[in-house]
Amino acid sequence: MTELAIAADGLRKSYGDKTVLDGVDLAVPEGTIFCLLGPNGAGKTTAVKILSTLISPDPASGPIRVGGHDLATEAQALRAAIGVTGQFSAVDSLITGEENMLLMADLHHLSKREGRQVTARLLERFDLTEAAGKPASTYSGGMKRRLDIAMTLVGNPRIIFLDEPTTGLDPRSRHNMWRIVRELVSDGVTVFLTTQYLEEADELADRIAVLNDGRIAAEGTAEELKRLVPGGHVRLRFTDPASYRSAATALSGASRDDEALTLQLPSDGSQRELRSILDRLDSAGIEADELTVHTPDLDDVFFALTGGAGVPDQPKESVR
Ligand SMILES: Nc1ncnc2c1ncn2[C@@H]1O[C@H](COP(=O)(O)OP(=O)(O)OP(=O)(O)O)[C@@H](O)[C@H]1O
Ligand SMILES: [Mg+2]
Repeated sequence: MTELAIAADGLRKSYGDKTVLDGVDLAVPEGTIFCLLGPNGAGKTTAVKILSTLISPDPASGPIRVGGHDLATEAQALRAAIGVTGQFSAVDSLITGEENMLLMADLHHLSKREGRQVTARLLERFDLTEAAGKPASTYSGGMKRRLDIAMTLVGNPRIIFLDEPTTGLDPRSRHNMWRIVRELVSDGVTVFLTTQYLEEADELADRIAVLNDGRIAAEGTAEELKRLVPGGHVRLRFTDPASYRSAATALSGASRDDEALTLQLPSDGSQRELRSILDRLDSAGIEADELTVHTPDLDDVFFALTGGAGVPDQPKESVR
């Protein structure tokens, strides 16, 4: 069995009478990317802060282990095993990128020589060597984010928490960040990531948990989560009411929207199913004005689980 890098059992946190985390179970195997998804205010940052010892869980919480260390009794050792890049930058803008890195090296009690070596290596890796001598206030958002993560890596952590590492980054910087995360994991590091971007979870995560209302509404691989929402469909739109009516007859079983003159058929979006639909229209001599194929993606899962629209009979379900 693979070791768990992060294990939490019934994680709870309330502020006053407001329950933020209401019994969250987490199990993240070593060397994998785990993604915590959730709308604003779902409790993602709260979870990251608890797991990284920045705030305490409620006493009613079950045991929490990170990097093999018990959060309640071995906080010091736990802290030494992890790195945290918070939602809001830890970069000091007044000093240079290099100085920020050296400060981190000092915090980790590296010798001057080691500190300089690690700094040079990480600045190089994050493509910041050229900018190293400039004040961080002159860095772009993407550069600051890279510096932030480089600073997190100074202590060579085996487990990294990244709280929304790509929020506000342009597509190129976001792809760069994804590459960096993948490199970390290929070195055996475990990454616990929060994000608002479903595409990001789809792209990176081995497993995804959707946090809603203080609980994990669903958990699984991207593929497993997509299977939770009703399947894809093909939508046909007509401008001519007569064509629309003939099509509705030809395609029995389609759900109709008589006002918008559209028909919707359940479909997995495969070539075979599309051909069959088109063949049936052809035989009836009808041409649709528009045909769109919709396959369920993580957006659908996210909205179904967090939007209140709900997936019939199956919210709060774990897929394994
Ligand atoms: N120190 C605090 N005191 C009181 N309430 C708090 C405190 N910190 C967080 N909260 C509340 O806990 C809830 C969860 O906040 P949290 O920052 O964990 O959400 P999040 O999922 O990270 O949201 P976002 O996507 O906006 O970053 C929010 O309703 C927030 O107002
Ligand atoms: Mg947050």
